[in-house]
Amino acid sequence: MRAMNLESIAAIVREARDIVVFSGAGLSADSGIPTFRDGATGLWNNVNPDEVASIEGFLRNPPRVWNWLLQLKALIDDRRPNAGHLAIARLEQICAGQRLTVITQNIDGYHARAGNAEVLEVHGTIHRLRCHRYCGFVANWDQGSSNPFACPACGSPVRPDLVLFGEMLDDEVFSAAETRSMNADIFFCVGTSFTVQPAARLPVWAKYAGAALVEINPHPTSLTEVADYSVRSGASEFFSALCARLEGK
Ligand code: OAD
Ligand code: ZN
Repeated sequence: MRAMNLESIAAIVREARDIVVFSGAGLSADSGIPTFRDGATGLWNNVNPDEVASIEGFLRNPPRVWNWLLQLKALIDDRRPNAGHLAIARLEQICAGQRLTVITQNIDGYHARAGNAEVLEVHGTIHRLRCHRYCGFVANWDQGSSNPFACPACGSPVRPDLVLFGEMLDDEVFSAAETRSMNADIFFCVGTSFTVQPAARLPVWAKYAGAALVEINPHPTSLTEVADYSVRSGASEFFSALCARLEGK
């Protein structure tokens, strides 16, 4: 990216009170986790999401969804946060005294593992199970639960605590994400294709509420034309360069 743009973005960060980083699957690509819609490796180009990642699919055939997510979880457990996640965690340290919120569509838990304190997981997490009826039962998804099982408290199906197609987002988490987006002075969108609502409306709302909108994606998206800065690069390169610039290196 042009040095002039990097300096303009760094200048906005220095002055900002509220900073939001909104992430999607592209951020975890450098960890070796496939994205959903990129070319031959895109998860949704290889498996039907209605079968493996929808609520109808789960209620019709729990083991199918369970096994597919268990495979994805094994991959996520095997890999680790990449330079992009680590730079976003470093950005929080650099911006101590300001407020940095990560809003992520990713279910891999890598932002928290990288060290970010405030992470809103609007699509939930693959690391936790819960009772489908929200009776209060939750558990870590550990090695012991390789088959679907009934809730020990109420007998309803237990399922991963992530948002399946056909489901609503968690109200509390999504309202917090909306509030942070509306208050943002600068809003980074990294590694997302903006195809899944309602998460995709957060950057637009942030922009209407006055945030400077920065997109980081090697390819143009539907957000590109409304973004103030559209950075054609990978997440790791950009956030590493931004941190170095803010640290005066
Ligand atoms: P997508 O797979 O739709 O989009 C990934 C985006 O990341 C694309 O625009 C790529 O160009 C970009 N990308 C690829 N490599 C990158 C890199 N190294 N650095 C930066 N960007 C890169 O993934 P999402 O937008 O996250 O829903 O998908 C949104 C939702 O759709 C997901 O949360 C999931 C899925 O169905 C649920 O799990 C509910
Ligand atoms: Zn229950």
